[in-house]
Amino acid sequence: AFPKRVFSGVQPTGNLHLGNYLGAISRFVPLQDEMPSIYCVVDMHAITVWQDPAELTRATREVTAAYLAAGIDPKKAIIFNQSQVKEHAELAWIFNCVARMGWLSRMTQFKEKAGKNRENASVGLFAYPALMAADILAYRATHVPVGDDQKQHLELTRDIAQKFNNDFQDRIKELGLGVPNPEPSPETPDELFFPVTEPMIAGPATRIMSLRDGTKKMSKSDPSDLSRINLTDDTDTIARKFKKAKTDPEPLPGEIEGLEARPEADNLVGIYAALSGVTKADVLKEYGGQQFSTFKPALSELAVEKLSPIAAEMRNLIADPAHIDAVLKDGAERAAAIAEPILHDVKRIAGF
Ligand code: ADP
Ligand code: NA
Repeated sequence: AFPKRVFSGVQPTGNLHLGNYLGAISRFVPLQDEMPSIYCVVDMHAITVWQDPAELTRATREVTAAYLAAGIDPKKAIIFNQSQVKEHAELAWIFNCVARMGWLSRMTQFKEKAGKNRENASVGLFAYPALMAADILAYRATHVPVGDDQKQHLELTRDIAQKFNNDFQDRIKELGLGVPNPEPSPETPDELFFPVTEPMIAGPATRIMSLRDGTKKMSKSDPSDLSRINLTDDTDTIARKFKKAKTDPEPLPGEIEGLEARPEADNLVGIYAALSGVTKADVLKEYGGQQFSTFKPALSELAVEKLSPIAAEMRNLIADPAHIDAVLKDGAERAAAIAEPILHDVKRIAGF
């Protein structure tokens, strides 16, 4: 079997928010003690839409600072930025030739991000999920913790791994580079070169919604700053944003079923649950029957308690860019040491 390994990434596109923290970054921290973990700042994904170069450099350091401030230990986990390990781009090209146009055409993120003006979207935006598959499989990572919005891309990663394993089956066997398939079936080959990665999408915070619109996910690119809690927001800003968060006029229900069809209430209860490490049902046990005028200040207080030490530590770290750059450089060397031999084998399999 493939040794367990975690890979995940965050784009340096500014406005790191509570969704990124609860859905991704905070979940990376305990995993670093369970298995070898690789956390990437995916700067090559960022440029699929225009990025000002100086801002990209700043945002790359900011995501790195968020990783460190949240508690990822660069001595345990590998922290680096994608562009510094050339194997990502190399494997992405090979995967561009494995993935099918039809598969990528079905990706909802591309449809959303490209919008109506698809002719003017970058080719990179279309090919993004093949690069994401390369990010994961350049390390033969087995576990990928992400938010719910990445589910479809992870399914595509599995499809690419499976197609590669199938297309090159004879060659993989001939070169003795396969691992026995742990779940043999008539449709899958006996030996695998790439693992079929497990998505880790779980917990109360896999999809934090906008504070202004319960049908849209909280996102870096939402033009309304009131829609999200940024990791660097100060106490007053956090309180003001929760106060202005859209809700309905009913008090909170006592039972979880009462949150159905109440997306805004469900979202705020989910945020509270994730921040305090309990279930939504536990939150309702405490706050069921209460008005938002009581719940929102409690939520703000909790968010400030959890986020302000992280924001303070991020400020300290960002004040010393040389230290951040040194962490990234060391991480890139360690990441390359894993990816290089894997790419060496991939190229032999492909006939290069
Ligand atoms: P964004 O979608 O905000 O631009 P990224 O694409 O860099 O951010 O995503 C980084 C990680 O944060 C991914 O694992 C993604 O699934 C997760 N994530 C992003 N938005 C949310 C959200 N609203 N709720 C939960 N997780 C999220
Ligand atoms: Na995303």
